[in-house]
Amino acid sequence: MAINWVEYWNRQSSMAGALWQAQAAFFVRQIQKELAFGPQDVLLDIGCGNGHVIAALAPLAREAHGADTSESSVQNASKRYAHIPGLRFHKLDPSDYLAVDALPLAGVTRMLCVSVVQYYKSLDELALLIARAKKIAAPGCVLLLADLLTDYNLYKDIAGVLLGGVQSGTFFAKLREVFSGSHSLYARIRANNPVLTMTRRDLENICAAQGLPLRFLSRNLTGNLFRAHALIGLNSDSA
Ligand SMILES: C[S@@+](CC[C@H](N)C(=O)[O-])C[C@H]1O[C@@H](n2cnc3c(N)ncnc32)[C@H](O)[C@@H]1O
Repeated sequence: MAINWVEYWNRQSSMAGALWQAQAAFFVRQIQKELAFGPQDVLLDIGCGNGHVIAALAPLAREAHGADTSESSVQNASKRYAHIPGLRFHKLDPSDYLAVDALPLAGVTRMLCVSVVQYYKSLDELALLIARAKKIAAPGCVLLLADLLTDYNLYKDIAGVLLGGVQSGTFFAKLREVFSGSHSLYARIRANNPVLTMTRRDLENICAAQGLPLRFLSRNLTGNLFRAHALIGLNSDSA
């Protein structure tokens, strides 16, 4: 089977279901304990999926944007959340998905990228995403990279996903997901397209090379206990 991650996530069914909504709701509650959102903010959610997170944050901000490579997710999100003023969804070009600076927006104050970086091909891509995100960042803008696979061990990660499910109220849904058929498709794709893992030092080096401040957050943001979450200041004065 020659399908890659972008194609996998483009399958509409990949992100259907209550689990995604529950996870998004948990993330939105947790992130507001770390970051303030206000009426001057311009938000961008990179890899927004079906848009649950950015739709929940949009009413707190001046403008909110979700961007994703998945045509079906962008369509679903645009339809489902058409009633929210100031919220727009954008399709990222699957062959140039790091080009966030080509989106029709500027002056972003808060960027999120949640459970997405693991589907990049290399750390060089991550470094390039950060460099391109800088180009549309307002002064003081921060980029949150959430759910990173740092210092990775598969069995520990699965344990963290399930244990974290207890905290986020998604344990049984996650258990089903782990053992479901869709997950075995995920596993088969993964055999040919390894997920991107890194050390914390890797990310520190990427940020240091671009002169950007970085801080790891200790709060469980995504309900996956052993994943890391990093807040990067996209100008040297932020984060
Ligand atoms: C695990 S889902 C996370 C969705 C959303 N951020 C959330 O937390 O609910 C991964 C999302 O990343 C998107 N994606 C995968 N590869 C991508 C890429 N290279 N650039 C942008 N988005 C990508 C997928 O289409 C999918 O919507």
